[in-house]
Formats: sequence, structure tokens, C-alpha cells
Amino acid sequence: MDLSIIGSGYVGLVSGACFADVGHHVVCVDNNPQKIEALQAGHIPIYEPGLEEVIQRNVAAGRLRFTNSTEDGVDHSEVVFIAVPTPPQADGSVDLSYIERVARDIAAVLKPGQYRVVVDKSTVPVKTGDKVAETIKRYGQKGAEFDVVSNPEFLREGCAVSDLMKPDRIVVGSKSDRALALMQKLYQPFMAPILVTDINSAELIKHAANSFLALKISYINAVSAICEASGADVEKVADGIGMDKRIGRNFLNAGLGYGGSCFPKDIAAFIAISEQLGVPFTLLKEVQRINQSQRERFLKAMRDTLWILRDKKIAVWGLTFKGDTDDIRSSVSIDLIAELIKEGAHVTAYDPKGMDNVRNFKLIPEAKLVDSALEAAQGAEALVIATEWHEFAQVDLSHLKEAMASPMVFDGRNLLNPETMNHLGFHYRSIGRPGAGKG
Ligand code: UGA
Repeated sequence: MDLSIIGSGYVGLVSGACFADVGHHVVCVDNNPQKIEALQAGHIPIYEPGLEEVIQRNVAAGRLRFTNSTEDGVDHSEVVFIAVPTPPQADGSVDLSYIERVARDIAAVLKPGQYRVVVDKSTVPVKTGDKVAETIKRYGQKGAEFDVVSNPEFLREGCAVSDLMKPDRIVVGSKSDRALALMQKLYQPFMAPILVTDINSAELIKHAANSFLALKISYINAVSAICEASGADVEKVADGIGMDKRIGRNFLNAGLGYGGSCFPKDIAAFIAISEQLGVPFTLLKEVQRINQSQRERFLKAMRDTLWILRDKKIAVWGLTFKGDTDDIRSSVSIDLIAELIKEGAHVTAYDPKGMDNVRNFKLIPEAKLVDSALEAAQGAEALVIATEWHEFAQVDLSHLKEAMASPMVFDGRNLLNPETMNHLGFHYRSIGRPGAGKG
């Protein structure tokens, strides 16, 4: 099939590459000329495992191309995806101006008699699909034929290609048989269960799913605080409750809390939507509060041990919001570093993929960024592990101890083994696990 994707960010670009990889012909559209030029020259603007190979393979096969022109994209496709950002506003509600802009751009180039399915893949508040349909009708030519479909995306950054190729489910919201038939054909190669709903339900599924996952994380983080106060081990507790198939072990890893461009934004948006609809979802406010308190408890534990942070040399491993990505948006690590700096600490940090973004966005300019985990730890009075990069679990711990001025490790992602750390003589603190160590 021929399709286009408007917006070539994480979701649009990875979706475009994967649709091409199963045999469709895909045009990725973006209004950023530098991004399109870079993609046309073979440069991938984001780090996502496996993405570069998929893009190269499909560009070479003639199934994937990039353009600035919405008209080019719409002309050459039966299905037009919208995958543009839906950023948060100050009050937590969603800024839908990019979606509206794209709806108007599509309306401007839709030709009468040329049926198109316009699919919203961006995460949007319930009822946005109706607005998109109204907008296209209002600004389009008479006789333009189209249907609007909601098709939320559930990929995770860091494993986006495999999530897209092997999805748990595909949600398609539409009342139009014609649009649904095309969507079934489009997704048939992925051999995943397709759940057909109305547009509103499909839109709601995305916010409800992300909120539930965030709830799971906050739940185990609240349990981790009780574990710390009582001497229990949160990992054992998570294993024990996760073995119940109704609960499941996934997303029960205690840590510094969730970050990223999705959960914080989507939970705030779902709260705002519920309030607008007159049915406030107050449980989600508690999810947010626990998420925030997790990093505060962590900082308190650091202060309790180090006493005064001013002029302390602190190493931080990890800048991205989680491992296997270069994305630093709403990263807990960046907030934590900003707080340490505010309290007068000297921070040296390392991240396998996130440092260019930190430099480009001029975040935490007072922090010194270095080229390896051990270099960051050199002479440090304390080390913070802020992101769950696999590489950090591989560091030679005796070299780490030699490098540090005092062997104190605050593990915000429970990446290292407490017994090993204590045995090696580190003062080691993690989240919700017993034993502060001697050091
Ligand atoms: C999330 C969802 O998992 C995707 O299904 C969804 O498509 C995406 O948002 C989106 O809305 O676009 P993502 O933000 O890429 O994906 O990352 P996750 O793997 O879900 O992690 C989110 C945060 O939760 C990270 O900061 C991670 O460190 C944290 N986390 C995750 C925990 O603290 N504990 C866990 O057990 C799992």
C-alpha cells in the first residue's frame, strides 16, 4: 500500500521505517528542512537501536523516502498518518496546535474524488478525532472524500523497532467500513490482534494505558519506601506480587521514578481531560505525587549520608530518561543534577548516548561531561546511578573503588548487587533494598 506519515519524530520515523519494511511504500513528511535533508543524506536524527539499518534497507529498496511537501505525501498515499508532537501546556492540558495545522495542511491539498484515510497516531485527548474531521471539512475543497481514524501508538523508546514489528495489539478507532478495511490491509503483515473501536475509545485507550503503567511504577515506588522503613526488599516483593499473572512483573521496577516525553505529559493530560469532563481522576494526582517524592527521598538519603552537598565532588552515571535512548526530555537525572548543582555540588557526568543532546539544549551547563563512566567517577566523593544503562552494570567495581575519593554509591535504578557492593567495601544505597553498607 502507499502511505505517508506527517511528522518524522520518534513515532513517525520509526513507524514509517517499519511500514516500509513489511512491504508498503512510505513517504515520511516533515516541515523541518534540515531534518529532511539529513534523512535524505542518510543521517538518522535520533538514536534508536536497529533503526538505521531498517531505514537504509528500505531507502535502498525504493520503499521509503523523505520530503518537506505535505502535498507530495498526500498525493501518493491512500492512508495519511499524523504523527506530530502534542506538547504539554503550563496547566497540564495538551497543545493541539500542531495537529490542527496538519489537518489544515491536509485539507489544503486533498483533491475532490481522491479518497484518503487520515489516521491520527499522535497521543491526543479524547474527542480530538472529531475536531480533525471538522477541520478538514471546513478548510477542504467541496467533494473531498476522507475518513478520520484513531490509531494510537504503543512503542517504547529504546526498543521502538521491535515494539512496532511485534506489537501486543493494534487499536483502530473508526466507524467507517471503508477506512477499517484499508487499516486491516495495512496492518495485516504484522500478524497482531487488531482491536476495532470507535474513535473516542481508541483515543482514551492510549491515555488510560500510559496512566496505568505510570500507576504501576508509582505503586512499587510507594512500596519501596515502606520496604526501606521496614527492612524488606522491594525486588523480592515485586517478584512475589508479579508472579501473580493478574498483576505481572513488568513495570514493577522501583527507582527514581518515571520520566520521558510520554508518561509525565500523558498523566497530566489525562488529569486535565478528566477535570474538563467534570469527573476528576484524583488517583492520578497521587501517582504524580509519589513520582516526585521518590527523587526527593533519594536526595534526602544523599544529604543524610554526605551531610553538606556544597563543594562535594559528585559523579552521575546516566543523563537520558531511561537506558537505550538518547532522549533527555523530562529526564529525572537532569532534574537531580540541577538540584545537586543548586546545592553547590560539583557534578561530573557521563552518558553513553545522551551527552550531545544535553550540550545542544544547553542543559545543566555547570556539569562537566566526560567520556566514560570511570572517568566521571575519578576523585568523586559519591556516585549516583541515575539511568538503567546496561553498560553501567558492566563497570569493573574494583577499578571504580580505586577511582573514587570515597566509595559511596547511590544507585537510583537498583542496577548493582547490594551484597557484592557491601563485600567490596562500598557504602551502597539503592531503592527499597536493605543494607546501607559499611564503606
Ligand atoms: C511509554 C510507554 O511504555 C509506551 O507504551 C508508549 O507508547 C510511550 O510511553 C508513548 O506514549 O509514546 P517510553 O516513554 O518510551 O514508553 O518508556 P518506558 O519504557 O515506558 O519508560 C518510561 C519511564 O518509566 C522511564 O523513565 C523508566 O525509567 C521508568 N520505569 C519503567 C520505571 O521507573 N520502572 C519500570 O518498571 C518501568
